[in-house]
Order: sequence, then C-alpha cells, then structure tokens
Amino acid sequence: MRILSGIQPSGKLHIGNYFGMMKPAIELQSQGEAYLFIANYHALTTVRDAQRLREGTLDVALDFLACGLDPSHTVFFRQSDVPEVTELTWLLSTVTPMGLLERCHSYKDKLAKGIAASHALFSYPVLMAADILAVQSTVVPVGRDQKQHVEVTRDIAIKFNQQYGEVFTIPEPSIREEVAVVPGIDGQKMSKSYDNHIELFGDPKATKKRIMRIVTDSTPLEEPKTPGTCNVFKLFKLFATPAQCEDLAARYRVGGFGYGEAKKALLEVMTETLAPVRERRDQLKGDPDYVEDVLRTGAAKARQEAGRTLAAAREAMGL
Ligand code: ADP
Ligand code: TRP
Repeated sequence: MRILSGIQPSGKLHIGNYFGMMKPAIELQSQGEAYLFIANYHALTTVRDAQRLREGTLDVALDFLACGLDPSHTVFFRQSDVPEVTELTWLLSTVTPMGLLERCHSYKDKLAKGIAASHALFSYPVLMAADILAVQSTVVPVGRDQKQHVEVTRDIAIKFNQQYGEVFTIPEPSIREEVAVVPGIDGQKMSKSYDNHIELFGDPKATKKRIMRIVTDSTPLEEPKTPGTCNVFKLFKLFATPAQCEDLAARYRVGGFGYGEAKKALLEVMTETLAPVRERRDQLKGDPDYVEDVLRTGAAKARQEAGRTLAAAREAMGL
C-alpha cells in the first residue's frame, strides 16, 4: 500500500484538519509506504503574500513533526521541491475533459466564498491528480470534502491509461467516517473560511474564548441534556478516552449540569492532550535546520519516484 496525502499551508491548522486529515495520515504511516506533502503550489491559488506562504509552510511542517510524523517512515516534503508534478499536470490536463472539472463542487464553493476565479483555481484538481499519480499512490486519506477530487484523479488516470497504456496506478480515497466532519463552534463544518475553527496550537486565551462561544441549545441548567447532539460533546469526544466520554455523557443526562461546565471539560481535555505536542513543537521551532533537512531528504525521495512516473508518461505520449 502506498499512501499519499497533502495539506495546503494556507493558515494555522485547526482541530478539523487534525482529526480529519493529520491524525489519520500519521496513523497510516505504520501500515504502508507513506508520502505526505505541504501543498504550497495549491496554496498559491489563495495566498498572495510570499512571507505568509513561507511562514505557513514552516508551520505545517512543525505541526506534522510535532504530532508524530516520523520522517524515517514517511516521505515528508514540500510540493514545490518536486517540480515534476507541474509537468505531469500539463500532460494530464490534455486528457482531462472540461466537464469533469466543471462538476467540481470545491471550485464553485470557493467562488461563493469570494476567492478570485483563476485558471489555477479551476484546474486545481489536475494538479492534485498529478500529486497523487506521480508517486503511484494506492490510498489517499482525505476528509469528505476532498473525495470528489480523488474521484476526478481516478477518472483522469483511467482515461490516460486507456489512451496511452498502463502508466498510472488507480488510487482509492480513504475517508474516516467517524471523524469525517468535525463541527466548528457554530455547529457547521469546522473551516478557517467560516471562521468557526479552533486552532490546534492557538494562543491559550484565544482558544478558551472560542470554546466558550460554542453554540449550544437553550435547555435550562437543571434539565437533562442530550450529549449526542451537542457540539461541545462532539468535540470533547475527539480528545477524550471512552471512560471520560461515558462520565461526561452521564452528567449531561442527569441534568443540573450546564454547558459552561462541559466547555471547561473540553478545554481541559484538549489542553492536556496537546501539551506534550505543543512542547515538542516549540523544540522543533528552535531547530529550523533539522526541519529543512527532513523536507529536503523527503523531496529527494519523492523526486525519484515522480521522475520515474513522468518519464513513463512522456514516453507513452511520444515526447
Ligand atoms: P479549511 O476548510 O479550514 O480551509 P482545508 O480545506 O484546507 O480546511 O482542509 C485540509 C484538510 O483537512 C483536508 O483533508 C480536509 O478534508 C480536512 N478537513 C478540514 N476541515 C475539516 C473538518 N471540519 N472535518 C474533517 N476534516 C476536515
Ligand atoms: N486539495 C487538498 C486540500 O485542499 C490538498 C491536496 C493537494 C491533496 N494535493 C493533494 C490531498 C493530494 C491529498 C492528495 O485539502
């Protein structure tokens, strides 16, 4: 099994990114050959400030290494250090039907959010297909919102193989249903673009403020409450042990327990779980040479794979 996933360095990571993508991707590193990259070419579709892009890229690298990405098991790299993917994007775009891209929800969603329509924003799924196909990945762990892009990748690969012969492995998306959509503080999907997110390593005061703002229903304090439908409980469950969940659920059901207390319990379990990770992150931040070295070593390995695939595609196409 060859696993590949990527994340855009377009802002501070939040707990939706963590449970929806980082944690599953890190866990998969023990189950096969894992490739994980920082999608900075993709981020150019929305980030127009060079300094912000550079900082965002470093932030993501620190986040992943602190959260347990092991560079001796996972090939970890910056997308822009593997320029083969941009050439492959062109080759793939010649077999990509317009209709396939026109059907992508993510493009329309981004326009609706006010992001400028550009050719890159529209053709972004082809770049994503190149990322996935360049290293012949078999499994792509993503959140539900990215599933359509993996399906587009499959369609492109099948079309290419039919036309030119078997060059690409057809990948499968891997979606963890139980954490597929992490709710934000307003109960909608957590997303930085809805500004309803809780940062993974945010300032503790700001984190507390956000948690205290989580939307709950208006059941009076003394009445029993339903944990299953409560946004606070849904987030608590992600961090807590089964025993801690059972304990908090029992307090909801009995009544006489307010949402304020549930929010405090969430803040506590989140702070406690992330404390050692935060410490590791601070240490890594003090050693930028190490981080750079990990990314360069990863890129060299990824380039080898991508170079092989690109050569096969060029040959098959008559270049
Ligand atoms: P955002 O919506 O904040 O811009 P991205 O679209 O950059 O987040 O998502 C990066 C990765 O994190 C993707 O794999 C995506 O599926 C996952 N992800 C983002 N938000 C959530 C969420 N609320 N629940 C689960 N996974 C998420
Ligand atoms: N498009 C993905 C996102 O916005 C990031 C990404 C780029 C990706 N290339 C990828 C994810 C390849 C998985 C595989 O979240």
